[in-house]
Amino acid sequence: MNLDFLGDNKRSHYCGNLDASLVGRQVSLCGWVHRRRDLGKLIFVQLRDVSGIVQVVFDSGAFDDFAKVEALRAEYVLWVKGVVQKKGDSGQEVEVLASDILLLNNAPELPVQVNEGTMADEDIRLKYRYLDLRRPALQNIIKTRSKIISGIRRFLDGEGFFEIETPILMKSTPEGARDYLVPSRLQNGKFFALPQSPQIYKQLLMISGFDKYYQIAKCFRDEDLRADRQPEFTQLDMEMSFVTQEDIFAINQRLFQYLFKEILGVDLSEFPRLTYNQAMEDYGSDKPDLRFGMKLKNLSEVLQDTEFKVFASALADGGSVRCVVAPGCGSFSRKQIDEFVAVAKHLGGKGLAHTKVEGGKLEGGVAKFLSDAEQKAIIKTSGAKDGDLIFYASDSNSVVYKVLDGVRRALGKQLGLCDDEQFAFAWITDFPLFEYDQENGRWVACHHMFTNPKEEHLKYFENEADYGKIQGMLYDLVCNGMEISSGSIRCHRADIQKKIFDLLGFEQEELDEKFGFFLEALKYGTPPHGGIAPGIDRLVMIMTKAASIRDVIAFPKTLKAVDLMSQSPSQVDISQLEELGIEIKKNK
Ligand code: AMO
Ligand code: AMP
Repeated sequence: MNLDFLGDNKRSHYCGNLDASLVGRQVSLCGWVHRRRDLGKLIFVQLRDVSGIVQVVFDSGAFDDFAKVEALRAEYVLWVKGVVQKKGDSGQEVEVLASDILLLNNAPELPVQVNEGTMADEDIRLKYRYLDLRRPALQNIIKTRSKIISGIRRFLDGEGFFEIETPILMKSTPEGARDYLVPSRLQNGKFFALPQSPQIYKQLLMISGFDKYYQIAKCFRDEDLRADRQPEFTQLDMEMSFVTQEDIFAINQRLFQYLFKEILGVDLSEFPRLTYNQAMEDYGSDKPDLRFGMKLKNLSEVLQDTEFKVFASALADGGSVRCVVAPGCGSFSRKQIDEFVAVAKHLGGKGLAHTKVEGGKLEGGVAKFLSDAEQKAIIKTSGAKDGDLIFYASDSNSVVYKVLDGVRRALGKQLGLCDDEQFAFAWITDFPLFEYDQENGRWVACHHMFTNPKEEHLKYFENEADYGKIQGMLYDLVCNGMEISSGSIRCHRADIQKKIFDLLGFEQEELDEKFGFFLEALKYGTPPHGGIAPGIDRLVMIMTKAASIRDVIAFPKTLKAVDLMSQSPSQVDISQLEELGIEIKKNK
């Protein structure tokens, strides 16, 4: 239906914008029937549009064609004319007494309800995503996302950044995750990859002299998904020339302060800093939740001569024994404790020992295996008090960290310490540049291979035994236990970049093929540069308190990387494959 015929009667106001200043005024509204309440002679319709909901009253006495109103159902689309009046009951201050109505469209019974507290299963909601997106809760998130993105543009524009688009069809280069590949028809047998991030392009833009670049960039990674990961996600990708780590921290802190103030009215204070080593030692994680304390404590020293086999064997194997104190949890039931043991096992721990603290001594759990002197030393080192519960993990350092990080997070939740009104940002610095990949028997980059090593660590490149000591000029920004951003100062010297590629085990031929163009570019007067890439989806999650990354993306994919609405990925015509020279071996 063409709305031209409405003429002067076309929409005059949005439903959510009517207030007492309009009482007595005639208005025309357009929207959906959110709910209707039929009292016989009176029918109340909650009319919803993008701005909100207003109650429209239809009085049979004032309507010739009341049957039209009686036929209204949820999600019918209406044009309504009426007069704004004060509303009797509390809640919204005004309502509209209707004098005219046009049915613009109807709808059959909906597979997912827009107006109810109880929600259908997520799979059904994802199949009918366009309906689920009508829910005010999801609309608010998507609207906030839009404000965040326009806020980012406003801020960076004011800082002299250029927004530059980079290709979506690019060369496949190993960057960490698996690439999504795109076959080329014109170059049969060859493939593009979708960018895992615009990393190489943004560095090339610095070589081209653009000085300050940003982009709201789509990134694609074929990796295992989680609650905070999507195969297709969005980064605020940034790069700057002639800057230090301090400059990047400063501009990012100001950007986040601007966004939180503008959008949430929240003042963020200076972001604290923590080295990677300190974060691991204190929290067992490089993305600690700093909304609460409960630091891990290392008991390896005080238990070095212990006769308790579980602890002794981990120490003999070069591992550690560490603990986390659950304040005031001494009266936890067996069942409650078992829930934490399950967390530990899920994270690869062999178990999770516990004791209580009572009368200055350890009681229950593994207390009987620990000598008086060990008990005293544990209480002293852990700082535990009477009435507390202590959880212990012993294993290799990496397993102990993983287990106690998980236990600490679960405790934080259970004890109500994860206040989502609080935003605990922190910079994590001084990461190792490389880690040894046991499975494949080779060194890999912890972040990515374009990060500058610390100048004073260049000497460690000489000897493989020292590779693990090399720290990079790289940093993460974390908030409430989530990694929000990652970045680094880059290698701007071709010789150092080459050293890194060599250490990672690239053969000359493979290097020439995959990165030759980039190594060549680095030779032509590359400025010192660095950057960072905040994940916009995760930022929106934090700012809107969304529980899942799927709630902050208009059309997300499931954990199996499927779009349930359009049913993609899907099979394609055999002729399309033939053109590409591709044959499907067998459907797995
Ligand atoms: P990195 O790979 O650490 O760095 O990514 C930067 C940020 O992007 C977000 N992110 C994701 N969000 C949702 N789903 C995913 N699958 C996903 N993967 C990453 C996170 C993360 O902190 N080119 C570098 C940045 C740089 O060095 O400048 C990069 O991509 O919030
Ligand atoms: P077990 O000797 O296996 O019966 O374990 C004795 C106690 O130690 C139980 O409470 C186990 O949960 C706990 N435990 C077992 N393995 C570990 C471990 N690697 N770290 C901490 N506690 C453990």
